[in-house]
Amino acid sequence: MKKLFVKTYGCQMNAYDSAKMADLLAPLGYAATDVPEGADLVILNTCHIREKAAEKVYSELGRLKQLKRENSGMLIAVAGCVAQAEGAEIVARQPAVDLVVGPQSYHRLPEMIARTARQSGAALETDFPALEKFDSIPAPSSSGVSAFLTVQEGCDKFCTFCVVPYTRGSEQSRPPQAILAEARQLADKGAREIVLLGQNVNAYDGDGWSLAKLCEAIAEIEGVARIRYTTSHPRDMGDDLILAHRDNPKLMPYLHLPVQSGSDAVLEAMNRQHKADDYRRLVDRIRQQRPDIAMTSDFIVGFPGESDADFDATVRLVRDIGYATAFSFKYSKRPGTPASTLRKQIPEDVKAARLDVLQKLLLAQQYAFDDSQIGRIVPVLFEKPARDAGQIMGRTPYLQPVHVTARGELVGQVADVRVTRRTANSLHGVLA
Ligand code: SAH
Ligand code: SF4
Ligand code: F3S
Repeated sequence: MKKLFVKTYGCQMNAYDSAKMADLLAPLGYAATDVPEGADLVILNTCHIREKAAEKVYSELGRLKQLKRENSGMLIAVAGCVAQAEGAEIVARQPAVDLVVGPQSYHRLPEMIARTARQSGAALETDFPALEKFDSIPAPSSSGVSAFLTVQEGCDKFCTFCVVPYTRGSEQSRPPQAILAEARQLADKGAREIVLLGQNVNAYDGDGWSLAKLCEAIAEIEGVARIRYTTSHPRDMGDDLILAHRDNPKLMPYLHLPVQSGSDAVLEAMNRQHKADDYRRLVDRIRQQRPDIAMTSDFIVGFPGESDADFDATVRLVRDIGYATAFSFKYSKRPGTPASTLRKQIPEDVKAARLDVLQKLLLAQQYAFDDSQIGRIVPVLFEKPARDAGQIMGRTPYLQPVHVTARGELVGQVADVRVTRRTANSLHGVLA
């Protein structure tokens, strides 16, 4: 048996890809291990979205190089979005790297590994063979209670700050029948929740099927209790998907709908192709159909040219919407993106101060939302044992983690829980 160590950075799609890479390498005799020490193959599945994420990879590679000194048979592979963006530069910067494989080419890993044995120097694959990858990857070998399933990949939106259209390529939707087959396999392996993934998942168009229609078909699969999807773009939020939140009882009342900024000038400079009020109206329409829906978003502060007034507009939007939770980031200049060459870059200390204000507000909203559940009875899907002995952890329909004292047999089941209190990062409750 050979040992495989995979380290995953970045978004859920990378987590999905990491599992697929492990499944793909299993027939070659690779079994997963939790530590890089003694591994025959180490894969770093990387993220390029912000500078910090991308730079982490090089410090990790520095550590791996030391390990490789003691274990000369070890292969080091860089996969994911840094691999796609930087390609051969990675090997130039860190010659200990043996393989560089982009997110659309990792189905070629077995052949690439064979190639490293034959040739000297690194093997490199950063093509975009469109849907070929999905045809080549094996059925899932296992599944957790909640399972990711990539249905759409890539992005045609070209927000001016973002590397994803370059690292993941253009929007590609998988055919619905392939997705349904994979969903059935996941359900057979124990998945009770399916999380549909795409960089623009609500732009899904598979042989004329919309995301709403796909959710309807997945809801029919035996064993599937819950369906979620992420990430959506406000421009692609179709009426049928909004209505699905009313009509499809398995579709959870939770929507990650990134807006990035509340200022029309900044939204325009970001090429988001909508105004702040369009977003407000959209959220109103969604809440008309599903009043309890938990809204979440991503925000960028300190985009080039963002004034104090622009930032105040973001704060106003956050107050108007009321988020259940949200992610917020300081703008990070990314090579090759249009925003990186804009004059009027914002100083770090200004970005930091704005981020602090925004994060305090978002955290207060999160606590308010979590507190609103206290005393209620909510259906919880239990996912795994919790850290405290005798407790198990699950999630509400609104994706909040809940800790409950209960027998482990409830893992994989939905049970009613009375929420009793909130701690910093989770809710606690008792079986109702
Ligand atoms: N496809 C999704 C998510 C893309 S990446 C979407 O359209 O929303 C996830 C988040 O990272 C983005 O929503 C954005 O808030 C953030 N992000 C992307 N590029 C960034 C950059 N250059 N600097 C800071 N944050 C960035
Ligand atoms: Fe990036 Fe914008 Fe595409 Fe999202 S929609 S992946 S932020 S370019
Ligand atoms: Fe990062 Fe690539 Fe995902 S840049 S956020 S790993 S699509």
